[in-house]
Amino acid sequence: MKKLTAAQIGCGKFSQGQDFPNMTAHPGIHLKWACDIRRDAAQASAERFGVPCVTDDYMDVLRDPEVDFIKIATTHEVHVPIIEAAAKAGKHIFCEKPLAMTYEDCYRIIRAVRRGKSPSTRGNSGVKLCVDLNRRMAPAMQALRSAWQEQLANPRHNPWRYVETSRAPLPEEEHSHLLIRIQDESASYGLGHLDPLSGGGEIIGESVHWLDLACWFFAPQRPVEITAWGSSRLSHGIFLRFDGGDDMTLTFSCSGTFDYPKELFEVTAGAALLRSRFFVENNYYGIPGAVSQTFPMQAYTGSIREEGFDAYMKKYHERVSLSQANLKTRENTEPFLVDKGHRAMLDAFVRSIREDTPSPCDELAGFTSVYLARRAIESIELRQTLPIPVEKITPCIQ
Ligand SMILES: NC(=O)c1ccc[n+]([C@@H]2O[C@H](COP(=O)([O-])OP(=O)(O)OC[C@H]3O[C@@H](n4cnc5c(N)ncnc54)[C@H](O)[C@@H]3O)[C@@H](O)[C@H]2O)c1
Repeated sequence: MKKLTAAQIGCGKFSQGQDFPNMTAHPGIHLKWACDIRRDAAQASAERFGVPCVTDDYMDVLRDPEVDFIKIATTHEVHVPIIEAAAKAGKHIFCEKPLAMTYEDCYRIIRAVRRGKSPSTRGNSGVKLCVDLNRRMAPAMQALRSAWQEQLANPRHNPWRYVETSRAPLPEEEHSHLLIRIQDESASYGLGHLDPLSGGGEIIGESVHWLDLACWFFAPQRPVEITAWGSSRLSHGIFLRFDGGDDMTLTFSCSGTFDYPKELFEVTAGAALLRSRFFVENNYYGIPGAVSQTFPMQAYTGSIREEGFDAYMKKYHERVSLSQANLKTRENTEPFLVDKGHRAMLDAFVRSIREDTPSPCDELAGFTSVYLARRAIESIELRQTLPIPVEKITPCIQ
């Protein structure tokens, strides 16, 4: 089958660790272009990853009839002009999160995609856009959700479980609660992440990941109410309630350390607790016979063969003990990555183009996460719980 021809727009830090390695390794993709307004960055990436064409103007890419899709990993504020031009040129679009920083920019993107020219890829009904809200595609998250759904559909309980036989369950006892704990080391970010024009702060830049994860996890329930607290640009908390009664609580601290994994997920379900530790191990409690699952890392060049959380910590400490200098200096030469779903998202997007099926994370999902992030910021500023009106997350845009 003919490979899809792709172009990378934005050759900064993220693209070096994920986009270039993932696209050049994908058997169904020919990565033809490296594009960056910093021509030297595009040139260096092209040389490192064997990409034949280089430009500092994304219109060169969009004029190339061979290009089937573009991958955008620029700063956020330039998504709109690039996506509008790409959709007009009939190119499919794989865009980094957040889709945009404002409601209006999201609306413009949705309109551009829905009005896009018939793509060059034969057999496609329209332009496809995929937002890289990759956590939903991580193998550990897919397994966590399946185990949660299985427990709800066929509840299993330990024989010694305390059972109240004198009453029926109360309504709240039927609800699930998802806790997402993020501890991050903010010294690792450039201040660009906090720039109101190009970064927007951590709720817009990062927490869209977990807002999307919660919406995907609890779908088809819809979010109906949001409460947030803390700083709208750094440490914060968000409580998101869904119309079926389930909810998600996110706590994000920027004053943590990379010496311990950043992300922990726990969900309760009818006298069970399901936990995922940093994409490498899932544990299930209160469910008889349920065994822990481990997940391979996306990239690891050392010699420890075991998998799981304790093995991950061993691998991590082996790595830091070998690093005399700042860890960042080793990122390019010896990648060390847990599997957060980037490759699975790319693969699902390629399949959606080939088979003309829905995008794995379309423009509406991208918009919803931005809408919720903006509402969280409003909630912090107003010190109030805010509704998520259904008409706001189902905009009529043609
Ligand atoms: N999905 C994830 O887990 C994840 C993780 C990290 C970063 N990201 C996203 O990746 C994106 C890039 O982040 P980064 O850390 O690589 O930033 P970066 O600043 O290192 O890179 C951005 C690059 O885009 C280039 N650029 C800006 N405007 C351009 C334009 N008009 N045309 C071509 N190139 C242009 C810049 O010159 C720069 O080289 C951000 O949107 C960020 O949110 C996603």
